[in-house]
Amino acid sequence: MKTTLSLVSLNLFIFITTHSLLSTASDVIYDSTGNKLLTGVPYYIFPLFRGTGGGLTLSRASKDACPLNVTQEPFEFNYGVPFIVTPIIFDETYIRESYPVSIEASFTDPCQGSKTLKLSSSEVVAAAVAKTVKTVTAGGQLNTQESCFQFVEADVMPGTRSYQIQLCPFKCGSNSSTSLSCYNIGLVTNSDGKTFLGQTDALFPVVFQNSFGNSVQTATQSAIQSV
Ligand SMILES: *[C@@H]1O[C@H](CO)[C@@H](O)[C@H](O)[C@H]1NC(C)=O
Repeated sequence: MKTTLSLVSLNLFIFITTHSLLSTASDVIYDSTGNKLLTGVPYYIFPLFRGTGGGLTLSRASKDACPLNVTQEPFEFNYGVPFIVTPIIFDETYIRESYPVSIEASFTDPCQGSKTLKLSSSEVVAAAVAKTVKTVTAGGQLNTQESCFQFVEADVMPGTRSYQIQLCPFKCGSNSSTSLSCYNIGLVTNSDGKTFLGQTDALFPVVFQNSFGNSVQTATQSAIQSV
């Protein structure tokens, strides 16, 4: 017990000195059934509000295009693909708020590249505001600024835990950036009505639904092919 405690405080010490802006008492994140969100376990990511489309998925505009775009299933009853969240700094069992994490799609990637999400230089025009927005794609790299995500409690509906996805470049990699900003990651719909995950000010409260018991592989493969 003593060893464990001192290891924890050593970790905390390193954590505080290198990432002093992070809260040390961050709350654990909960899935849609009220269980703690686990490292290394696939979860579907759904919008909190019903009737606003299905889960997040990966898709491509044309055959052979790579890396895949992260998009939203248009229909509420479609789950999309599950995603695995991994803390970047600590090897922890649970995912906590405001901790830098990588998000990796759990499916067979036709591009055969990295399934880690990143904010890419690819852009779409958000039809509603006629603004160009950077989008999220696969093909990211662990512990780099463009793949440095975090979740913060969205706190939009009493009694329901939902989270806002953010990109916090300064929390990962060799930190040469002077900006200590995090950016909201949400949904952007283009003029064709296709909805992408991208960097936008609009809030996108999400819930995590664990994928135990689902036939993940079958479901996701048909999802990819149907796009
Ligand atoms: C991702 O979306 C962008 C914008 O619509 C498009 O240009 C690109 O080809 C798409 N990527 C894939 C892999 O389909």
